[in-house]
Amino acid sequence: MDKLRQLYFDYVDTFKVDGKLPPMMELKRIHTALVVDNAKKIAAAEKFDAHTAEICTLAALLHDTGRYEQLKRYNTFKDSDSVDHAVFSHDIVKAKGWLDGLEAADREAVLKAVLYHNRRDLPEGMPPLMDTAAKCVRDADKLDIFRVLENQIATTDWRTDATAFWNLRYDLPPNPAVIAAIKEGWPVDYQNIRSLADFVLIQVGWMRNGLYFAASRRFARERGHYDYRRKFLLDLIGYDIAELA
Ligand SMILES: [Fe+2]
Repeated sequence: MDKLRQLYFDYVDTFKVDGKLPPMMELKRIHTALVVDNAKKIAAAEKFDAHTAEICTLAALLHDTGRYEQLKRYNTFKDSDSVDHAVFSHDIVKAKGWLDGLEAADREAVLKAVLYHNRRDLPEGMPPLMDTAAKCVRDADKLDIFRVLENQIATTDWRTDATAFWNLRYDLPPNPAVIAAIKEGWPVDYQNIRSLADFVLIQVGWMRNGLYFAASRRFARERGHYDYRRKFLLDLIGYDIAELA
């Protein structure tokens, strides 16, 4: 694990300019460290065995490997304008041979957890270790994305700077199609995202149906992510997410 951490951070360091990572890349490096931390906390709370916990941690460390090269090459983190960053991450990890010393089952579990981390759904019938690693990374990632949204709201002039949230309107009520999907527990179709409220509601949907582990749901509550969104949407457009219940 230590050796792989070293390989990973040495790789990240290759993107430094004048001894510093560009700010957008630095945000990804911080995100990665926090996703690793979340994965460890989920593994501990769910009492994964030591080996499973290590595979989950490793997958968390590598899940966004491709973000640096994506930004360097395409100057965006938007997958639809560049590459699917999970595929990109998977391919880079594989090409670098970082996992070559692992048992085949462990290597495949890590690679697939990276590859599937941004998919709408996970394939059925994966081997148990792969399944656990994939679910753990997805939960750990979402938990940190909750933090990122709150950070984004706190640190940008999103009311005047439309690009803070991809030009989404902030003064529109939620799309009824989004509300319906969340109520029914269906994944939200990204086509239906028209407003900042819809965007925030997607994450409320994750908290209700999108987290696999009870520990992840507990962390989301304990960290105040649900209450934050409830207050935010009430203040923004007078919509109470308690109505979803
Ligand atoms: Fe990602």
